Amino acid sequence: MMDVTQPRNAGMGNASLEGHEQTLDLTRGIAAYVNNPLVTGLARVIAKHPQADLANAFNHKQVACKMWARDRLFETLGGRFKRIWVLGGWYGILPAMLFNDARFDIAAIDSIDIDAEVTPVARTLNRDAGDRFQALTADMYALDYAAGEADLIVNTSCEHIADLPAWLALLPRGTNVLLQSNDYFSEPTHINCVASLSAFEEMAALREVRFSGELPTKNYTRFMLIGTV
Ligand SMILES: C[S@@+](CC[C@H](N)C(=O)[O-])C[C@H]1O[C@@H](n2cnc3c(N)ncnc32)[C@H](O)[C@@H]1O
Repeated sequence: MMDVTQPRNAGMGNASLEGHEQTLDLTRGIAAYVNNPLVTGLARVIAKHPQADLANAFNHKQVACKMWARDRLFETLGGRFKRIWVLGGWYGILPAMLFNDARFDIAAIDSIDIDAEVTPVARTLNRDAGDRFQALTADMYALDYAAGEADLIVNTSCEHIADLPAWLALLPRGTNVLLQSNDYFSEPTHINCVASLSAFEEMAALREVRFSGELPTKNYTRFMLIGTV
């Protein structure tokens, strides 16, 4: 007879699989308790994409930075958007947060990332948004921003791209942007950190700055600009 006090993956001898099953069980339990579509989406991702580095993408610092972006965006530009493009969008967590926030009325969000492996994960996370959400695999330096007709361009991955001014120069004049970078120089994938908010302002050289601020976290400070190119 099965010992019901044992976890169902006990004895498998595979710590990684066991950890994954426990994470899935816990997230499903939290999703049932809070009845929140974003948390349900996270459980769906854990079940369907066990290789996705969700613990990194949804750690408390990343979540704080995305909530900061969402709240300052609402205060600065309001909540109505026809189309938002999120560049370097990773697993589509910011779109999921925006779709789950009743203050926002957003017709469409496209999450665009150069890494093809993140695309199906972003789709799974945002499945409930239906055709309001698209995840695309593309290099942000190779897009036609005028044709995209986005009324907001978001890039919270500025520390991951080599030449921020060259990328910003691709956007039509007057485009609304929300940009984040940080001073987390020791992270190897960060190829273009900035040492301060003023260094970020100088690098981005926006025509109009509507918001400029910093959010200290344990290991680094995140910087954010909202304005127009
Ligand atoms: C680690 S993630 C995001 C980190 C960031 N702090 C955040 O959560 O917004 C950075 C993403 O930028 C993407 N990326 C880097 N260069 C890119 C490019 N040229 N075009 C599109 N995506 C790019 C990477 O594939 C990766 O998924």
